[in-house]
Amino acid sequence: MDSKQIKQAEDRYLADTYARYDVALVSGSGVRAVDADGREYIDFTSGIGVNSLGFCDTGWVAAVSRQAGKLQHTSNLFYTEPCTRAAEKLIGHTGLCNVFFGNSGAEANEGAIKAARKYSHTKYGDGRAEIITLEGSFHGRTIATITATGQDSYHKDFDPFLQGFAYARANDVDDIRGKVSDRTCAIMIEFVQGEGGVIELNSEFVDEITKVCAERDILLIADEVQTGIGRTGKFMSYEHYGVTPDLVTVAKGIGSGLPIGAIVFGEKTKDVFGRGDHGSTYGGNPVACAGADYVLSRIDEGFLAHVAEVGAHFRERLLAMKGVAGVSGKGLMLGVALSDKKAAEVVKHCAANGLLILTAKDRVRLLPPLTITKEEADEGLNILEAAL
Ligand SMILES: Cc1ncc(COP(=O)(O)O)c(C=O)c1O
Repeated sequence: MDSKQIKQAEDRYLADTYARYDVALVSGSGVRAVDADGREYIDFTSGIGVNSLGFCDTGWVAAVSRQAGKLQHTSNLFYTEPCTRAAEKLIGHTGLCNVFFGNSGAEANEGAIKAARKYSHTKYGDGRAEIITLEGSFHGRTIATITATGQDSYHKDFDPFLQGFAYARANDVDDIRGKVSDRTCAIMIEFVQGEGGVIELNSEFVDEITKVCAERDILLIADEVQTGIGRTGKFMSYEHYGVTPDLVTVAKGIGSGLPIGAIVFGEKTKDVFGRGDHGSTYGGNPVACAGADYVLSRIDEGFLAHVAEVGAHFRERLLAMKGVAGVSGKGLMLGVALSDKKAAEVVKHCAANGLLILTAKDRVRLLPPLTITKEEADEGLNILEAAL
């Protein structure tokens, strides 16, 4: 099929839920993708922060192909090796206690919400099940996670919502202090809000949250779905703040292209789920876990230093561009505030000229593969500069 045929078939057979770019991709390698008409693109999107090793990394392809040819799925009635290997590495990287595998970020957040509520019910009884999230946050598309998401635009037409959520302003110490009450069981945050515009939490705000959590035995849930697994130049973004959450959710980059998510439990929460409390038919799928195990085996100090170094290069070049009002984010998760152009127009212009980029609110958002070199970065940045 050429691009036109793919688009026509999509219009006919798929529910119209996505505002897609005018591009139909068919293959890729590293930071480069090719469309159905043979045009090449530099990719600064990573499938929205998923393809951490770029397109079709040879080691990752070998790991998932080997597993697909050996045992593709068993259900969780049986023990399998790949999920134990991936979990062992996640624990090795985080120093946390144990792992539950699911299939997506929303599902990981749903599970963390359940775990926080069970922890509180078991220890304190009824009436203490409220989760505080932040305005501008994004936690997923299920009913529980759109309720958790502190943005009205995701709520329209989908009420009634789940009870037991409250919203505080990001980086407003007094507001979060005022929202915490005897009903609060957890505070759930992204340390860098992704969909909300690449907004970083400041240290004073995070310190206040950790203080109030410690004082009142409130659990801290870190949504690391977009920020985790090396994206910000640390294995998890909470490491930039020197805190240890009680529940951490990951997805996106851990799979580098296959659907997988996980809840990582800390000391307080490691035994909160008992048998039958939570589950997923596909969770811990051997092929997805073989891919995750491979991704996790690639991440070490050198890998993270590369992310930080190339991220600093992006930032330096962006700040020197005409039309850039500011750069937010950490590592290779960058938000670019524009002084005159609209982000959506810049995205369109870049795609027409061979560069794929994202938006987050009114900013341009860049989430390139974590393996991108400075030379590849410059190739794409030159196209962005011309567009601006
Ligand atoms: C911070 C955060 N949490 C949760 C999600 C939802 O993840 P998924 O789309 O895999 O359900 C996203 C997706 O963008 C996200 O950025």
